[in-house]
Amino acid sequence: MATHHIVTIVGSLRKESFSLKIANALAKLAPPSLKLDVTTLHGISFFNQDLEANPPADWTAFREKLQKSHGVLFVTPEYNRAIPGVLKNAIDVGSRPYGKSSFLEKPTGIISNSPGPLGGVNAAKALQNILPGICGTIMGQPETYLNGIGDAFNEKGEIVKEGLQKVLEQYLTAFAKFVEKQNA
Ligand code: FNR
Repeated sequence: MATHHIVTIVGSLRKESFSLKIANALAKLAPPSLKLDVTTLHGISFFNQDLEANPPADWTAFREKLQKSHGVLFVTPEYNRAIPGVLKNAIDVGSRPYGKSSFLEKPTGIISNSPGPLGGVNAAKALQNILPGICGTIMGQPETYLNGIGDAFNEKGEIVKEGLQKVLEQYLTAFAKFVEKQNA
């Protein structure tokens, strides 16, 4: 079975980010057919259309990483009922030049999370609004909005919340099948 490389984009820059912990847990739990490359957005400079003719090296590196991948997985918190600005900036960078989005044809997954009760569902919905014109097919099921994430990990980043590992494994099983089909 082929190994599919998945750019796993973390929507938060925070050192102790729950989104980062989820992405790292997913990378550990992934089946052999998926290799999750956990990608944070610290180095991506602000999108500025003036720079498009001569793009900064960090934009080019991010775009090339996406182009070489077999799929993209977003793991993000919700900020003010939408996605964090750093994530929108990275999507804007990856989406250009016009008509040549680096997300094009990449099977895409979305996992939102929050310490609150709604699991960051508005961030996931915002991504479903932003992405369709610039990416491949977005996996529909299982919808995964992880709520109450604040007590899900210990200080080593290990899952301690009952049921969470199973939810992540179920997501990965579905995503592995989806990515395989989309790349066939
Ligand atoms: C938040 N948070 C938040 N949570 C939520 O469920 N809905 C929201 O709309 C918001 N809005 C929001 C805005 C801003 C600017 C911040 C800093 C935070 C809380 C958020 O879910 C919490 O801080 C998470 O821990 C952030 O994700 P990471 O960094 O742990 O991945």
